[in-house]
Amino acid sequence: MLKNKIKQDLDKKILELKKKRNAVILAHNYQLPEVQDVADFRGDSLELSRQAAKTSAKVIVFCGVHFMAETASILCPDKKVIMPDINAACPMANMISVSDLRKLKKEHPEAVVVGYVNTSAEIKAELDYCCTSTNAVGVVDFLKGKKEIIFIPDKYLADYVTKVTGRKLIVWNGFCPTHIKILPEDIKREKKFHPFAKVMAHPECLPAVLSMADAVLSTSQMSKFVKATETKEFIVGTEVGLVYRLKQDNPTKEFYPASERAVCPNMKRTTEEKILWALEEMKEEVRVSDDVRLRAKKAIDRMLEII
Ligand code: 13P
Ligand code: SF4
Repeated sequence: MLKNKIKQDLDKKILELKKKRNAVILAHNYQLPEVQDVADFRGDSLELSRQAAKTSAKVIVFCGVHFMAETASILCPDKKVIMPDINAACPMANMISVSDLRKLKKEHPEAVVVGYVNTSAEIKAELDYCCTSTNAVGVVDFLKGKKEIIFIPDKYLADYVTKVTGRKLIVWNGFCPTHIKILPEDIKREKKFHPFAKVMAHPECLPAVLSMADAVLSTSQMSKFVKATETKEFIVGTEVGLVYRLKQDNPTKEFYPASERAVCPNMKRTTEEKILWALEEMKEEVRVSDDVRLRAKKAIDRMLEII
């Protein structure tokens, strides 16, 4: 009872402050349920970028990881982008440095450089094209006429893109430490328990896992796929946080995480209390210097033009 009252007060304070600050709360699909519940919009990286770009709010409270808030700031420099926990980082994004990428570009001077959105703003400033898990295949397909393509930093997403497009890519040795925790034996076990379930897997998963999936999809594509499919049961091959949203949107369907180990600790750093404090103190702000921002924006704009 007391817990309910505390929760209600928290919700109310957030709502009031959100209005006062003219703020919008954006949350990635992996966020904690309490965060998803107070968000104005939840989605995958691409949807959140698009949402940030079109919001009329003055302040964006970004509940996700650092590169996502940076992307919002790159797209809307006139808005104040704040993160409830500035230490929420993506380990994959930190697996490549600017000097690593410059070296790779020097080794392949003719190559077009495509980078996953899971990269820092400084890395995006070095790219020709950005891509997300939703449109990586489309972006590489668009570059058909190009002789060489560098694709960084996720080697498993790159491998998946190569399998679909037939295009050989120059890759980097990056990966998502959360998605690689989903193992082929997890899929095998869940399929045994739920023989009628469809298996969905995120392209950051291991190739052996992807080869067992009925569909390889980004998080929001999974959410659309579930709605559009008659099937009643799904094995969810991505970070466990998505299951909350899937169940909320589809109460008559059942969802089984492929592995309970697939938890992204950084995505769980943001809490409802931290959202309130962020709105009270109007921090921590995420800002990108103009020089980096303008160069990074070119790669993002090129992606948004294609898909
Ligand atoms: P989505 O774009 O599919 O949401 O993926 C982002 C991410 O960080 C996956 O781990
Ligand atoms: Fe980065 Fe993986 Fe976490 Fe996504 S799930 S934010 S790729 S560490």
